[in-house]
Amino acid sequence: MIQAKIAEILDSNQFLQEFEVNGWVRSFRSNRFIALNDGSTINNLQCVIDFENFDQEELKRITVGSAISVKGTLVESQGNQQRVEIEVKEFKILGDANPEEVKLTILSPKRHSLEKLREQAHLRVRTNTFGAIMRVRSKLSFAVHSYFQQNNFHYVNTPIITGSDAEGAGEMFRVSALDMENPPKKEDGSIDFSKDFFGKETNLTVSGQLEGEAYAMGLGQIYTFGPTFRAENSNTSRHLAEFWMIEPEVAFCDLDGNMDLAEDFIKYVLKYILENCKDDLEFLDKRFKTEEEAKPKADRSGMGLMEKLHFVIDNNFKRVSYTEAIEILKNCKPNKKKKFNYIIEEWGADLQSEHERFLVEKHFKCPVILFDYPANIKAFYMRLNEDGNTVRAMDILFPGIGEIVGGSQREERLDVLKSKMKELDIDEKELWWYLDTRKFGTCVHSGFGLGFERLVQFVTGMGNIRDVIPFPRTPQNAEF
Ligand code: 4AD
Ligand code: MG
Repeated sequence: MIQAKIAEILDSNQFLQEFEVNGWVRSFRSNRFIALNDGSTINNLQCVIDFENFDQEELKRITVGSAISVKGTLVESQGNQQRVEIEVKEFKILGDANPEEVKLTILSPKRHSLEKLREQAHLRVRTNTFGAIMRVRSKLSFAVHSYFQQNNFHYVNTPIITGSDAEGAGEMFRVSALDMENPPKKEDGSIDFSKDFFGKETNLTVSGQLEGEAYAMGLGQIYTFGPTFRAENSNTSRHLAEFWMIEPEVAFCDLDGNMDLAEDFIKYVLKYILENCKDDLEFLDKRFKTEEEAKPKADRSGMGLMEKLHFVIDNNFKRVSYTEAIEILKNCKPNKKKKFNYIIEEWGADLQSEHERFLVEKHFKCPVILFDYPANIKAFYMRLNEDGNTVRAMDILFPGIGEIVGGSQREERLDVLKSKMKELDIDEKELWWYLDTRKFGTCVHSGFGLGFERLVQFVTGMGNIRDVIPFPRTPQNAEF
């Protein structure tokens, strides 16, 4: 008797071997054919029961959603839907699923909307769609580590609770152990955070970059891969309040090197998924096609999911300066005809996702790296160019997603960094340790942040970011 996962059994040639397998029933037809799934693959194992030889009462308990254990023999399948099947010798009900209640939940065979499934986030992983997404997500995580480890990067765990606002955007969740009903007050009436757990104001991190930079200044090349938190009230299909970010940071590397790294990294992980998630991708590709066909023609991507992945792997990302992009946008049709919600009038405008998507989907028709942005729309730590107006920033824009990566070469000159912080009213005392890295052996260095869920969205073709993370956190929603 071999205890095995369905993925292994479906690949096995050990005919007449006895297997034991546990899983959840997907369907049971003609009192004879059980489609069993255990999460190891999108494919079900057909288990054939000779119903006359089993207790009728027990057979009735084999319902959609129930957990069962099966012992039986591997044989070539009689049917043409599958290569192999299990002839059941024994089975045991491990956990019943009341068929009446199942009908009310996602386990019902009827198609449910993705919105409805979000209300059942604890059960939606039992569907083909979410099983596929979550397996791809897991493999993508592995590919991320594999890329960096193969290229001599060190994995650094940066703190989740911090005292600094890395992005300077102020969209943070406070971490406090003070009594909210009755907090200690200072003489002027404001809350006295010196009495709080850490003796100062703290928050959940919005990015591990600043700490990552400190470690790159000794380990040379590092990456972080962890949760980040943003209290921005963005109810969009691309924003989460809790998301995972991958942030490499490289000493002795300029912006060109940073762009090369980001492009090479993304191509590697996409290739990895094409090679290692074939069955799930095939399913998601079909699903994507059906979704696309339901859309108005103008909104369709024109490419299949697999096609999109191959397209990104096979083509160079188009590198365009912000200044060039503004010229293109100023003169494009939707801008002239006032089709954009935000009309681009002059250099210095912050780009909205409608502009980013125009550049990627309509103008260049490939992934785009925009670089050298105006200094005053970007974060304080970015390297100022010789023109005094622009910084060595880069954003990577993807079809259907918009911004997937944000990064930059960092300001390594202590005096320039200090004057920038002064200009933005950032307290030097709070970031004394960050400034130290510019005092002791400072050097040219760069890094970027890739939003992991946006990457999973691109790879799986899911339109809403809430469907690519197990338990999404968004404004007004922290269920489960
Ligand atoms: O562009 P961002 O804000 O850059 C940083 O945080 C830098 N410190 C990164 C670095 O240079 N080390 O965020 C980086 C990426 C975005 O491009 C996007 O993919 C993702 O993180 N992201 C989000 N993903 C989901 N929900 C949100 N609310 C996101 N905000 C940013
Ligand atoms: Mg950004």
